[in-house]
Amino acid sequence: MSAKVILDIQNVSRQFGGIRAVDNVSLTFREGEIVGLIGPNGAGKTTLVNLISGFLPVSGGRITYDGRDITGLKPHLIARSGVARTFQIVQPFARMTVLENVMSGSIFAGGHGLAEARRIAHECLAFTQLTSFAESPASELALANRKRLELAKSLAMQPKILMLDEVNAGLNSSEIQDAMRMIKAIAARGITIIVIEHLMRVVATLAERVVVLHHGSVLRDGETNEVFQDPKVVEAYLGAKFASRFAASAAQA
Ligand SMILES: Nc1ncnc2c1ncn2[C@@H]1O[C@H](COP(=O)(O)OP(=O)(O)O)[C@@H](O)[C@H]1O
Ligand SMILES: [Mg+2]
Repeated sequence: MSAKVILDIQNVSRQFGGIRAVDNVSLTFREGEIVGLIGPNGAGKTTLVNLISGFLPVSGGRITYDGRDITGLKPHLIARSGVARTFQIVQPFARMTVLENVMSGSIFAGGHGLAEARRIAHECLAFTQLTSFAESPASELALANRKRLELAKSLAMQPKILMLDEVNAGLNSSEIQDAMRMIKAIAARGITIIVIEHLMRVVATLAERVVVLHHGSVLRDGETNEVFQDPKVVEAYLGAKFASRFAASAAQA
């Protein structure tokens, strides 16, 4: 754990009326790590991503990226500095082609001209295996490919940190295997990945570290193995059945 801290979240909160969706959260993320962000529905995972990426203003606290205070910056400026995210609900520009959708990511975050945006977009389409759909309208893509498009679009922002909000939701197991390979390949480029995921076997495969959010607060932050066997986490989220199965498979490995 000697890599440098790239993202530092200090005492960040966000209220919606009386709901404390994110409640005084402090977390640090290091260069190149893959961190699982888990917790029950409504725990505040998506809100935290919205706060980091500037899509929602914080009610309090400070977010520092690579030594710079990014709290309150506009989303495109945060993206331009190197922080990208995917959306849990994927909504591509339906009437634009797949290529144009990916180019929009590059233009949003990179401020590139069209030729450079197109070059970057083609690379990202190749990486996500969407090249053959480049000229199709985005509306024609099936779910797994829409999820890939979302990934391609965020990669076109050439991020240093990538936050993936349930990119596997609704996919079948072979599609999930493909997505996991892609996520690992992205991390191998040195990009920090924060992955929100409900499938614990996916989290266990990808992430060495897991953060558990519960009622907007950090319930636990630690090594995946330890977090998955922490009685507090088991009780709040994972359930006893999962814990005993996980312990058995960990003992076998
Ligand atoms: N735009 C919003 N307006 C009002 N309440 C919201 C909004 N977004 C999220 N919430 C509430 O904040 C809490 C956290 O939601 P969310 O961050 O989506 O959780 P998660 O992604 O962990 O399922 C929930 O109680 C949710 O209803
Ligand atoms: Mg969510």
